[in-house]
Amino acid sequence: MAATYHQYEVVVVGGGGAGLMAALTLRGRDVAVLSKLYPVRSHTGTAQGGIGAALGNMEEDHWEWHMFDTVKGSDYLADQDAVEILAREAVETVLELEHWGLPFSRTPDGKIAQRPFGGHTREYGKAPVRRSCYAADRTGHMILQTLYQQCIRHQVKFFNEFLVLDLLIESGRVAGVVALSIADGSLHVFHAKAVLFATGGCGRIYQITSNAHALTGDGMAVAWRAGVPLEDMEFFQFHPTGIYRMGILITEGARGEGGKLINGRGERFMEKYAPTLLDLAPRDIISRSIYLELRQGHGIGGKGYVHLDLTHLSREVIEEKLPDITDFVRTYLGIDPVKEPIPVQPTAHYAMGGIPTDIWGRVVVDEKNRVLPGFYSAGEVACVSVHGANRLGTNSLVDILVFGRRAGRDLVRYVAENDFPPLPPRAEENAEQWVARLRAGRSGSAGRRTTVAELRDTLQREMMDKASVFRDEKLLAEMKEVVGELQQRYQEVTIQDRGRVFNTDLVEALELAFLLDCAQTVVAGALARQESRGAHSREDFPKRDDQNWLKHSLAYRTPSGQVELKYKSVSITRFQPQERKY
Ligand code: FUM
Repeated sequence: MAATYHQYEVVVVGGGGAGLMAALTLRGRDVAVLSKLYPVRSHTGTAQGGIGAALGNMEEDHWEWHMFDTVKGSDYLADQDAVEILAREAVETVLELEHWGLPFSRTPDGKIAQRPFGGHTREYGKAPVRRSCYAADRTGHMILQTLYQQCIRHQVKFFNEFLVLDLLIESGRVAGVVALSIADGSLHVFHAKAVLFATGGCGRIYQITSNAHALTGDGMAVAWRAGVPLEDMEFFQFHPTGIYRMGILITEGARGEGGKLINGRGERFMEKYAPTLLDLAPRDIISRSIYLELRQGHGIGGKGYVHLDLTHLSREVIEEKLPDITDFVRTYLGIDPVKEPIPVQPTAHYAMGGIPTDIWGRVVVDEKNRVLPGFYSAGEVACVSVHGANRLGTNSLVDILVFGRRAGRDLVRYVAENDFPPLPPRAEENAEQWVARLRAGRSGSAGRRTTVAELRDTLQREMMDKASVFRDEKLLAEMKEVVGELQQRYQEVTIQDRGRVFNTDLVEALELAFLLDCAQTVVAGALARQESRGAHSREDFPKRDDQNWLKHSLAYRTPSGQVELKYKSVSITRFQPQERKY
């Protein structure tokens, strides 16, 4: 089947919060949005507890405090010029959402309600502050619905259920993408003046994760294969409270409303690890603390979980402010959080790293921040970097909206100043060959079938054991070998479904390649970084080392498919690195 050709000035890849915000900013222009899912099923919809903005509706607050908390939370790796923008523009962004009709929870006098969240403080760390603006525990869902409604209102053009396979670069400029239509298996070439990647994260490299099945690192891997480096991939956040064994998110908002973490000895163990902020310390600290408790045999009944206890809160608070997680717990565990504590364990949640960008969402490709013309990125797939080594809760929603909008604004300028670049000859060729190879399939050397499920399972289990919350050289070196072997075996992967219509077998095979690429860069970055910072905790290098490691990593793909690491400096404007105590 020949590929179908399209032409749009801007192609946005990804229908979550960042992509929709960029598309809205570009409304009325020649723009198309490609989304792997129907847009309102995007992962933004799973964000629960709120969006951080120093509105000061409940008590005094300032964007400078938000900025400080974000920088400290990042273990001083975040770029402070970008964090300043995040904290300042969060306020107008939340008000814009309100004006678009987002049904925020309200205070009795009608203001947007705000609750405490991990690492968000008043007066530069003195005590928790209520900064998270929320819509019960469905904040991301409400944001996604609100943005999508606005896109429909402004007649934004969508290509739903399109999976991006290739980024086209010609004469030093990005010229479009190639995508697979999942509905009928056809290939499509989108010729564009500019492309924005807003495809989300890669949490599915881990076995226990809060991430949707679709979070397979597509944008990261496609960019990487096209020669773009990935920044700070070694920093992967584990959220402290996933439902035991399932990983489903139980919002930090539950602790914001007063929930407590309790170990098997009935102790509120965070008193030991973060005496000021307790259960509202940043996620890296709480996830490590839980693992340390579990290692000492202080899990509940000696098992691999602790309790999140809400039973001291009223039924009214739990059911009104936390209705979704209450439902999840009742449905998946058959327990009532009003009466019983919830079994939780850390769950892979968020990639701090991704495609490097500047503060306008323009993709930058080297240590000197050289821009790749026509390529933009925003949201979890990108690394601007506002989260550094550890993201604070609520800041992902701020990030997607603030930087989605900024990318949209710069795209308006870019497309006005530039013509369409030429397309490479036979633009669809790479994607066509890849899909054809998977469809043809071939058995392994011993005639053995290698399945996607088998390889993905091994990857996810091994990443959990060897490259999750605690790491060391031996485990990471082993993991590097595992990824290499899996990449070899991928060459022999076979799919059973040879059809064209909604071939999820094929889609999963393509996604597996993306997962392997992402895991490869996570492991390479983690193996090289001989220090502990934020979410990257090396047991053989337990201290933060600003002398040698206060720098961003850039992972490049070599022609033979290996990782080459380079480093670039961190932007430090207002806050010098300090010891991080909570
Ligand atoms: O806990 C949560 O509600 C998650 C929020 C976030 O990741 O920002």
